[in-house]
Amino acid sequence: MRFGQFDDENKEYVINTPRTPYPWINYLGSEEFFGLVSNQAGGYCFFRDAKLRRLTRYRYNNVPTDDGGRYFYVKEGDTVWNPSWGPVKTELDSYECRHGLGYSRITGKKNGLSLSVLFFVPVGKTCEVHAVTLKNESNQKKTFQLFSFLEWCLWNAEDDMTNFQRNFSTGEVEIMDGGQTIYHKTEFKERRNHYAFYHVNSPVAGYDTDRETFIGLYNGFHEPQVVFEGKSRNSKAAGWSPVASQCLEITLGPGETKELSFVLGYIEVDKSQKWESKSVINKKPALEMIATLDSKAKVDAELAKLKDYWKNLLSGYSVKSSDEKLDRMVNIWNQYQCMVTFNMSRSASFFESGIGRGMGFRDSNQDLLGFVHLVPERARQRILDIAATQFEDGSAYHQYQPLTKRGNNAIGSGFNDDPLWLILGVAAYIKESGDFSILDEQVPFDNDESKSKSLLEHCKRSFDHVIHNIGPNGLPLIGRADWNDCLNLNCFSETPGESFQTTENREGRTAESIFIAGMFVSIGPMYADMVERKGDKAEGERVRNEVRKMERVVLDKGWDGNWFLRAYDFFGKKVGSKDNKEAKIFIEPQGYCVMAGIGVASGEAQKALDSVKEYLDCPYGIVLNNPAFTEYVLEYGEISTYPAGYKENAGIFCHNNPWIMIAETVIGRPERAWEYYKKICPSYLEDISDLHRTEPYVYAQMIAGKDAVKPGEAKNSWLTGTGSWNFVAISQYLLGVRPEWDGLVVQPCMTKEVSEYKVVRRARGATYEITVKNSGQAAPAKLTVNGKSIEGNQVPYAPAGSTVQVTCEV
Ligand code: GLC
Ligand code: GLC
Repeated sequence: MRFGQFDDENKEYVINTPRTPYPWINYLGSEEFFGLVSNQAGGYCFFRDAKLRRLTRYRYNNVPTDDGGRYFYVKEGDTVWNPSWGPVKTELDSYECRHGLGYSRITGKKNGLSLSVLFFVPVGKTCEVHAVTLKNESNQKKTFQLFSFLEWCLWNAEDDMTNFQRNFSTGEVEIMDGGQTIYHKTEFKERRNHYAFYHVNSPVAGYDTDRETFIGLYNGFHEPQVVFEGKSRNSKAAGWSPVASQCLEITLGPGETKELSFVLGYIEVDKSQKWESKSVINKKPALEMIATLDSKAKVDAELAKLKDYWKNLLSGYSVKSSDEKLDRMVNIWNQYQCMVTFNMSRSASFFESGIGRGMGFRDSNQDLLGFVHLVPERARQRILDIAATQFEDGSAYHQYQPLTKRGNNAIGSGFNDDPLWLILGVAAYIKESGDFSILDEQVPFDNDESKSKSLLEHCKRSFDHVIHNIGPNGLPLIGRADWNDCLNLNCFSETPGESFQTTENREGRTAESIFIAGMFVSIGPMYADMVERKGDKAEGERVRNEVRKMERVVLDKGWDGNWFLRAYDFFGKKVGSKDNKEAKIFIEPQGYCVMAGIGVASGEAQKALDSVKEYLDCPYGIVLNNPAFTEYVLEYGEISTYPAGYKENAGIFCHNNPWIMIAETVIGRPERAWEYYKKICPSYLEDISDLHRTEPYVYAQMIAGKDAVKPGEAKNSWLTGTGSWNFVAISQYLLGVRPEWDGLVVQPCMTKEVSEYKVVRRARGATYEITVKNSGQAAPAKLTVNGKSIEGNQVPYAPAGSTVQVTCEV
């Protein structure tokens, strides 16, 4: 069952009913100011850091689930309604929500009045625009009231939800022009040099800034007393919960339209210029911002800018094939999700509270992979920020806060896969940009400037961290966990509530990871490539030797007969082996070891992937392990805590599915790769939205697996490495266009269902127009470049500004 449809022309998903199977959300903003908005106008916004600089309040896990947002209420006669249906839930005559790239437009109609709200963050500005269009579609004059509403958050979202003894007494506002602009200035008097405001470009009949006055102590967002009584109280918040609500009295003749522009802005002022006069905040920068958005023409121009911004970004990679589901994912939604995951990491979604996790070291490095072609300069900065949280021994803080860029002590370190992801991120950046100078950047360890070394040295420490942490079988020690946060082989937690990620109960010098070994063999050579290009042949040689050694160890100690083992536990026992009772096979090492090329020549790779098909595949994707754990296994940690079929316990953890797709291309099986691609790709799941439940335009982190109570039900949409990795899989390996050090590799491994397609790829300033004729045989590509056939599958990089015609036959 569907709840809307794709509008590819406008790059939008159009939702036809507010009653989606879960709130279907969108993100606003792409640089500093961000907002989340659901199809019922629920959500919130923040400046840079969802925890530390939250602008509007949101209550999680609420009843109903999506309550609180930027709301518009109409009161006409006795009828009160929202264009978003909720929170009042008056039945509308029509409803539509269009989620586009960086904007959402929600339109509701009731009794001949149409109200449309366009939400977006203008490029380069620190504000949200709520552009309202009202239209009288009846043949009678209409007089009604329009109320705006939002609730301020007292900046630190965690403190805001917990520290009520203080926070109920701190809230402060300033009200200007009879309520046309409402300033939120809590804590501005003391240590904050920032405030927020909500403005409308039209005189108002009244306003409210005190939540209890506006809503009523015993009411909810669905029955604000001011709205139902049709009378603003002109309340001034003092402590309690400051809000911003304006009331406009509007009369529209038949067919008449009115446009309003509401601006929710965030302002930082210089410490020396905080005040206009005693206790009156300096509003100059706010007024300047408002002046850029105070007419429909200006708002339209900003929206056009935003659309151009995205058009330009997306022109870096596009495909034209006969499969519209494929094209819309590759050209629009998957790249869009890569931007969002790059910006948010795992911090703020409808499944991540924005107060918990900052930026993950491993997550952010992987998020780069699908983002780097969009804005390489931002990827560059991100790499330097991440590397600065690395320790001198190569290990790393697992997470850091984006506002402070400091490592997060509460989560700590010791995830032994973390260091290698840095090399992968750096390699992806250089291959994309050609900018080897990044390797010479001086980057501190643990943000201590006195301990700065080149980024290349950081990569060396990453590589050596594995070598310095080898276990009894010659395999990498796992530490607290590797990619699978929930396989905690040194934890042994028996205390309820203890964090599996931070509790380390045993000194872990025995538990080893075949997954990290696969990463080492796959990613190590990228570091060798870098040092060799920097002229250090000896270091390159050393690295390649270590990698070859590891490859032998994997085949010797990491092979279980029909698949790769997952790990050795604390006691030196096999994990993910036919000898185990449950979880005999895991997905991660099958993917990464084959991506590394291990066992491709000698047959283990194919066997491993055949085992994946046999034991892990199901109609909704590839599960993480099989059979699922049904009991708590003390020595394995969190993985066995989840009910069978969910999350890391045999859920379809979508992030690792593309590793198998890529692995299938490594051994030349396009049909398998394609089958796996379609199984988790959201545009192919649109028809089962009622089961899948999350947005059909973005990937979810997890789909319940075959052992679950409800197989096929997705959770944790948006913020997942699945976005980047699937983009890498489809764009670089199936469609087969991939930047390498010296040229663009064109080597499709694509289903015969798609027999012809065209890829346009921008790389290092040149544009490559690649026409592919595909037989579906995974054969070496035959290429012509500007009409001349070339040897091999690599198109040399062309000068910036040029356009290169490539034909490819497989
Ligand atoms: C979550 C984490 C990621 C981890 C994965 C598997 O997505 O953000 O770091 O690799 O779970 O546990
Ligand atoms: C939980 C989640 C897992 C995540 C980890 C770290 O264990 O299940 O997906 O990676 O927390 O935050």
